[in-house]
Amino acid sequence: MSILSGKNILLGISAGIAAYKTASLVRLFVKTGASVKVVMTPASKDFITPLTLSTLSKHPVYSSFTNEEDDNAIWNSHVDLGLWADIFLIAPATANTMSKMANGICDNLLLATYLSAKCPVYFAPAMDLDMYKHESTLHSFKTLKSYGNIMIPATSGELASGLVGEGRMAEPENILQFIENDILNKLPLKGKRILITAGPTYEAIDPVRFIGNHSSGKMGFEIAKASAHLGAEVILITGPTHEKVSHALINMVPVVSAEDMYNAVHRYFENSDIAILSAAVADFKPKEVASQKIKKSDNTLTLELEKTKDILASLGAIKTHQFLVGFALETNNEIENAKDKLKRKNLDLIVLNSLNDSGAGFKTETNKVTFINDKNEITEFQLKSKAEVATDLLNEIIKQLNA
Ligand code: CTP
Repeated sequence: MSILSGKNILLGISAGIAAYKTASLVRLFVKTGASVKVVMTPASKDFITPLTLSTLSKHPVYSSFTNEEDDNAIWNSHVDLGLWADIFLIAPATANTMSKMANGICDNLLLATYLSAKCPVYFAPAMDLDMYKHESTLHSFKTLKSYGNIMIPATSGELASGLVGEGRMAEPENILQFIENDILNKLPLKGKRILITAGPTYEAIDPVRFIGNHSSGKMGFEIAKASAHLGAEVILITGPTHEKVSHALINMVPVVSAEDMYNAVHRYFENSDIAILSAAVADFKPKEVASQKIKKSDNTLTLELEKTKDILASLGAIKTHQFLVGFALETNNEIENAKDKLKRKNLDLIVLNSLNDSGAGFKTETNKVTFINDKNEITEFQLKSKAEVATDLLNEIIKQLNA
């Protein structure tokens, strides 16, 4: 799945011959799952028709401040367009449009939208080779970059004038790739390796029976997805669950028992930067596992249980650089118990769920959590979806790591 999926992309087209390539560009963006709107300078309509672009983008195309053909003229708000966009790409960016952008001139809708946009702005210049090298153009490049705008350089090749040199707008496929890579490289967890545990564990009694719990694994899977969306490489060690995930950055390691989970976690911990242990690990397991199915010969059956290894505490004991996060499900004296757990297990952050809160816990879609960090700072949240809780948790971790 492209990082652009679900994003709002505003394409600004200025008047260069390369505008004919924007039809392909719109198609490519739409294919990634992005929503695409187009704003054109009036002169660019000589190079490609608004009808082509509105058909491909499935949105009206904007080129003036009001909808002139309509008797009840509608104001096309540059502010709304600028705020709608997650990404604003100006392609082709002509020498004229770039010079105006650099100087705050806003005599058309594209330029006014540029001044209103708060999102990242990319520009892909296109012009003849001598224009591309002119001092004033170089000055525009420099000024726009100093505003934080991102240049997608032109390439060399045959130009519309017949001359050969630098000035060809980057090909649509390369523009798409450039933007995807740029976003991926700037993700806050890019290059971080995150280890996550999820789901229940099953402790065998005999070949067909086990002791388990009602954990769905949903919270851990949401944390894995949110981590990957922020650019992290994820190892998701999960007990038996119906949850599914498919993402290039998520490597799933299925396990069954607490012992399996312990071994898997220790295999990956050393190379991790962050470990988030959200699994509901069984605290006890049968001391002996019967090799044959246990027959119901007597009226009662006594199982002797022994403690499983505490995976979280074992990581707290050996951690070096890793940021370690545990969960605590408490029923009484919640904050004090969670603080105690944080200290005892040498954690950097603990996520407290209280069973006293409705909507929080095992089988629900929602969760209500409180974060406590190693400075005993407490952040309480409202009831939210587990996906939102996952995002809150990762934002908190990023904040702590950057503190
Ligand atoms: N955990 C673990 N290994 C275990 C048990 C729990 O890694 N064998 C982790 C869970 O993934 C979770 C946290 O520890 O992050 C939950 O701890 P919890 O079971 O609530 O706390 P305990 O320390 O076992 O304390 P108590 O049962 O006394 O509340």
